[in-house]
Amino acid sequence: MEKQRDMDWWVSIPKVELHAHLNGSIRGSTLLELARGLGEKGTIVFSDVEHAILKDDRSLQEVFKLFDLIHIVTTDHKILTRITQEVVEDFAAENVVYLELRTTPKRNDLIGMSKRSYMEAVVKGLRAVATVEVDLAPRDLGTGNPVNSCAITDLCDGTARKKIYVRLLLSIDRRETTASAMETVELALEMRDLGVAGIDLSGNPIVGEWATFLPALKFAREQGLSITLHCGEVPNPVEINAMLDFLPGRIGHACFFGEEEWRKLKSCKIPVEICLTSNIRTETISSVDVHHFVDLYNAEHPTVLCTDDSGVFSTSLSGEYILASSAFGRSYAFYEYEYRLLNGLGRSEMFRLARKAIEFIFADDAVKRELGEIFESAARKLDL
Ligand code: IMP
Ligand code: ZN
Repeated sequence: MEKQRDMDWWVSIPKVELHAHLNGSIRGSTLLELARGLGEKGTIVFSDVEHAILKDDRSLQEVFKLFDLIHIVTTDHKILTRITQEVVEDFAAENVVYLELRTTPKRNDLIGMSKRSYMEAVVKGLRAVATVEVDLAPRDLGTGNPVNSCAITDLCDGTARKKIYVRLLLSIDRRETTASAMETVELALEMRDLGVAGIDLSGNPIVGEWATFLPALKFAREQGLSITLHCGEVPNPVEINAMLDFLPGRIGHACFFGEEEWRKLKSCKIPVEICLTSNIRTETISSVDVHHFVDLYNAEHPTVLCTDDSGVFSTSLSGEYILASSAFGRSYAFYEYEYRLLNGLGRSEMFRLARKAIEFIFADDAVKRELGEIFESAARKLDL
């Protein structure tokens, strides 16, 4: 009973999600249902897939094998629309008020899919969201009004609906060529009015070279897109340094940083998207107690808690807040072979951490102001 009340509290606070991959956030039940369907058609062997889906702990390399499998199941226009709708509804159900959803536009000539039609199917999914109002449009600089909103403000009975702001980030997969990465950036630029706010670099970190993606990332930034990079998922100091020198808007993970990289990161104040469960499940960090989040939090470095792949890692954003608070809620935490004083992550500190994330979003100032008001009103209600 007490546990349920505690869980309800974490679900009830407004939260900001900045690192969620669309296909990694697929509902487990949907993935199994779709895989079973393909198994019946003989396209895949369902029992193999079922085993891979239900397995709990996977190495980082096993995760990428699972993604190849997930993509066989999900790379279809109708399915993309469905999973986008479900993912947004799931985040909204746990009071995520601002979501940056990232996905890798894919081309599949066999089914007439281009990167553009892939993204159009995703946008269709955003428009299909039924349980909550979706704000996906950037603001007009003159009027401050959304330039292209699919928002419905009221239910038929006139009561205001819950609202979620959604912005899209287009991911470049590390398997891609420079030309393919450039195509993704061009697409992002064309889709800016549909809520595309930036570019992400992700995919298997042992594949591809930084130099391959740099021209597209530079071009994206010149054109005003924000950039986040998966950085330091494996020990690769040369690449980590090159990424930090690029000064991205944010980075994800930062698991394998040495002293020099920490110094550089902290001096540049680049916000870090922290994915606790993902790092532990993929064994890039041995346990939550030694996670670098502690040090960054103590150093007052900008951080934001995120899920990464809520479906693949069976987590939720509320779950990540609970995990951080239960691991770091006491006064001391074990870090780098010594106990260090931690400022104590109780409920009010966690609420402040959630609110602080507003500063690091890739949407415009009008959205930041509106989110600030949502948090202000929640703080009053929760007496924080
Ligand atoms: P999608 O882009 O919507 O297809 O989401 C799945 C994709 O996100 C994967 O195929 C990877 O390219 C990327 N991804 C998901 N999780 C991770 C991660 O932990 N590290 C790097 N890339 C990831
Ligand atoms: Zn990620």
